[in-house]
Amino acid sequence: MEIDPWSSAQSTDYEGIIARFGLNRMEGLDLPNPTRLHRRGIVFAHRDLEGVLDAQRKGEPFGVLTGLMPSGRMHLGHSMVIDQVRWFQEHGGDVTIAVADLESQATRGVGLKEGRRIALEQYIANYAALGLDPERTNVYFQSSRPIVQRLGFQLGRRTNLSEFEAIYGFKGETNLAHVQAPLVQAGDILHPQTDEYGGLRPIVVPVGVDQDPHLRLTRGLASKTNWFNLKTGKNAGLTVALSVQESNAAAFGQQPDGRVDRGVRQAVFDRIVERLSALGFSDLRPNPKHGTVDVPSASKRDLASVRLALLGLEREIGGMGLMPPSSTYHHFAVGLDGDKMSSSRPDSTLFLGDEPAKVAKKIKRAFSGGQPTVEEHRRLGGDPDRDVAFQYMAYFFEEDDAVLADLAESYRAGRLLAGEMKQACLERAEVWLGELAERRDETAHLVETFLAPDAR
Ligand code: TRP
Repeated sequence: MEIDPWSSAQSTDYEGIIARFGLNRMEGLDLPNPTRLHRRGIVFAHRDLEGVLDAQRKGEPFGVLTGLMPSGRMHLGHSMVIDQVRWFQEHGGDVTIAVADLESQATRGVGLKEGRRIALEQYIANYAALGLDPERTNVYFQSSRPIVQRLGFQLGRRTNLSEFEAIYGFKGETNLAHVQAPLVQAGDILHPQTDEYGGLRPIVVPVGVDQDPHLRLTRGLASKTNWFNLKTGKNAGLTVALSVQESNAAAFGQQPDGRVDRGVRQAVFDRIVERLSALGFSDLRPNPKHGTVDVPSASKRDLASVRLALLGLEREIGGMGLMPPSSTYHHFAVGLDGDKMSSSRPDSTLFLGDEPAKVAKKIKRAFSGGQPTVEEHRRLGGDPDRDVAFQYMAYFFEEDDAVLADLAESYRAGRLLAGEMKQACLERAEVWLGELAERRDETAHLVETFLAPDAR
């Protein structure tokens, strides 16, 4: 199994994806005011979300980064990410949005000017209408933020074509612009934590699961640059270990002849001890010879704060101090025809700008989980899990869990017919899209204010 972020054909074997790529399930996380996407298991997995939730709870800073590919029109499926961004924003996160104009040019042939127009008219206009706060949202373009491209280049040293082949299935004939896109995306994901763009803090990236290859890559790249590794002990405790590499040999007292300058090494250890003592640990066991510091009284729950302290120290002594990003993943909404939702097949989805007449037509033709005849439907009942109209209410249009459960139950029991399910969806869709259109008019004047200074 491989995930191809550029293909519209995506696996929906979410269990398989969790197992194969080591994602974590959302179960057991304590989310404040969960959104409908959380409550209904549509946001189904994450990496390292604990650290972000922890920052949320303590009122400490954390950032949210996501990106959009400016090609085609914004459809319902795209709005799921924004629902999550808004939730993080309402719980204290600062938001950065990457317009992937370089990627769109590289992989879809969309020029930068055209990319900008699409991003503003199709996406940012709807983000404003969907309720993102312009005061706490910064939109930038990949093409006009040098640090993003610089990071991409620098991190390129930490990977190679074999890894790209393993992650993305790239081959000899793969276009090199395609090879650059993931490195630029790594730059997107990591740059908000640089001192210039908000400083060291956890960053969460809410995405569809098709983007996980980029997160795997980016997390690996960030870890490889880290000067300190952290290991959890078998039973308890944490161990900090120096990761001596070309870029930090001098700072760590590793001399070209292989010998260690004890004075320099000791000074590094003094600073580690100083940092960790400030977190309240009093049982530190530094072992400069082995290059480790044991913290016996630390537990898994201290991992995030210890990591943050060490990354801060790394920055002070000359390293990049990059924290691997956290992420959340959502299921894809099915297309109206029961197949994949994709902007390249206009009848497979509702666009946020679709006219009511068009919406009605599309929903009436949607794939249904009902039985072929009314008689059979009454007798056997329908399947809401395969019914697109029902799915769209679950994903987008019906906030009330009880109403939704009621619809599902009536359908299964055969009391509610397929046509009636579609009618229920259609009524809600028209209201939802109608209100969105109104808000788009009301917030049109705000679009500019979402743009970061380098995007104006
Ligand atoms: N590759 C993403 C897409 O195809 C767009 C994107 C660019 C992105 N940079 C990002 C998404 C950073 C999340 C985080 O839609």
